[in-house]
This record gives sequence, C-alpha cells and structure tokens, in this order.
Amino acid sequence: MNTSQFIAKSVEKSIEKATFTWQTPSNIALVKYWGKSNPQIPKNASISFTLNNCHTITTIEFQKKEKSETVDFDLFFEGQQKEEFKPKIADFFTRIQTYCPYIFEYKMIINSENSFPHSSGIASSASGLSAIARCLMSLESVLNPDLSSEEINKKASFLARLGSGSASRSIEGPLVVWGNHPEIEGSSDLFGVQFPYKVHSVFNNYQDAILLVDKGEKQVSSTVGHNLMHNHPYAENRFKQANENLGKMSSILQNGDLKAFVNLVESEALTLHAMMLTSNPYFILMKPNTLEIINKIWEYREENNSNICFTLDAGANVHVLYPEAEKEAVNYFIENKLAKFCQKNQYICDSVGFGAKKI
Ligand code: PMV
Repeated sequence: MNTSQFIAKSVEKSIEKATFTWQTPSNIALVKYWGKSNPQIPKNASISFTLNNCHTITTIEFQKKEKSETVDFDLFFEGQQKEEFKPKIADFFTRIQTYCPYIFEYKMIINSENSFPHSSGIASSASGLSAIARCLMSLESVLNPDLSSEEINKKASFLARLGSGSASRSIEGPLVVWGNHPEIEGSSDLFGVQFPYKVHSVFNNYQDAILLVDKGEKQVSSTVGHNLMHNHPYAENRFKQANENLGKMSSILQNGDLKAFVNLVESEALTLHAMMLTSNPYFILMKPNTLEIINKIWEYREENNSNICFTLDAGANVHVLYPEAEKEAVNYFIENKLAKFCQKNQYICDSVGFGAKKI
C-alpha cells in the first residue's frame, strides 16, 4: 500500500514556537471494526456517526530545539502531569515518526481534557489521538503552507489511525467510513472519508444517549480483543458480513428506511459481542444491566412503534440511538425507565456532530 504520499515534504518554513488547540469528537460505529492486521489495517470497512458533545480538547505547545534521537514531550491530562499515559503516546509518536520527522525538532507540551468523565467507560482513544494528530497537522501546515485542507484532513485521519483504528473516524462528520469498500467511493484502509452520498433527512441531528452502565476499566482491552480475531473460527465470515452490512447501511442511509437501520445496527452490536463470546480465550464485556436496558428498549419499541435502537462499543455501556423527532418521548423514557440501570443514574445525551474544530 502506498503510504509515501503521507511523508512530510522537507520543511519549507522554520518556526520557533507555536501553540495549537483542537477539539475532536468521539464516534460510535454503526458497522463495527473488529480485527486488524499490521499496521492498523482493518479487516473490514466500518462506518460511524461522529458525536457532538463527547470530545477531547488538546493543546500542543511546540518549542523548536536541537534535533534529537527521541521524541521529547510532556503530557498533562486535566491539568495534572500524567506519566502513566506517556507510553501509549510515545508509541504513537514512534509509529508516525516516518510521516512527521519534524517531531524530533520540537519539544511538545501536550495538555488534554475530555468533555466526558475520564472513568466513564467511554473510550477516549478515538478523540484523544485524533486531537493530537490534528494539532500536529496544524504545525505541519505552517511548515508546509502548500497543503490543502483536504490533504490536511486526510493525513490527520491517517496519523490518528496509527494511534487507534477508530480514531481515523474522528476527524470529520457526521458519517465517516474507514476501510476500503467497493461501494464507497474514495474509501481507504489508510484513512477515514466522509460518507460520500446524500444522506436522508431522517438522520439529521440523530440522537445518541450514552448510558453509563459500567465505568470501570475494561477487563479486556480492544488491542487484545482485535488480536483474538486472528485464528478465530468465525473471523472470515464476520469480515465478509461486515462488508456486506456496510453496503446495506449505505443504501439505508440514503433511503431513510429506519426499520432496516434499527435491525442492522442492533445486529452489528450483538455480532461484535458474539465475536468476543466465541474468542479463545472467550470474554464478556456486557453486564447484567446492559441486558436489562436492551430488553427495555425492545419493549418500548414494540409498545410505541418507535425507531429507538441500541448499539454497543467494546464495553458494557449502551448507546441509545433515535431520530430527533422522537427526542422528547425517548428522553422521558430514558430518564424514567433506563437511568436506574446506570451507575449513579448517569447518562450523556449526545447527537451527531461535524468533526474536529480549531479552538
Ligand atoms: O479503535 P480501537 O482499536 O479501540 O477499536 C474500536 C473497536 C470498536 O469500538 C469496538 C468498534 C468500532 O468500529 O469503533
């Protein structure tokens, strides 16, 4: 795969000091990515809604210094120096150093904060790594002023992907596809692209309430989970099915068939967890309250002829998805019937968003 287009051209300008701040969103996959090969190449294409309220805000201060062999950075999270988060970021810098050689010429002071509580069980790697990638691209666009905004976004997504696969879908919005797919023009395994077709208006301002069922550390990290897809007995069928589902999802997003949307989104969520249940070693990330919530959603949908549905990430929290037209009724239902299954009754009301913002 040709990645040479992502190697920064030799620097045209020099800059002594610069500070950039970016707000980048979290995202929720409708067709899931689970299984990859090196370096962060997905085994199937995926598509996600970009979120609006769940985001990371990161500032990087770059100070020019003598070129060194190692990347020099300090990391602060919510105002506190965080040594324990550094290895993951150092690893990210190692993976991107060929594409951003200028990182050896700057000391970087990184300050990051999330809009959602750190221990909420909401994965912060997508928003966290896309924010760093977007700040790096701000520096690169000063060093290389010829870069177009399209090239900047593409490379930001390419870099974010090397940190965490799903982070590649956290640069743009409201719908991003990552992974090469014959029916999605411009799609690539290397970076996320905006869903390129006209989306039915029923998906405008689609709602996502994130029910915080379990805020603890996951027992199995997504890195371990992805790896368990190697030699998984159902892996090849799953990758094929996911690509077929993405084709179906593309049609649904264009024709606005909500019944088909509900069906496909829930099937994807349960299939993701079925892959976990059938891995060796097997594991379960859902909790009893995850299942309580799913059953209540099914009951509500039946009784009210609603288009509410759920999806799951690699964790116990439940994302409740519904059209804006049902917002009032569903919010009432969540507050009165579902909140009690959440830790400390906590949930976050979110909706689709439009991607990274410079602050
Ligand atoms: O980006 P990672 O490596 O944390 O993987 C995320 C995988 C899922 O969230 C479970 C699915 C997806 O497509 O976002």
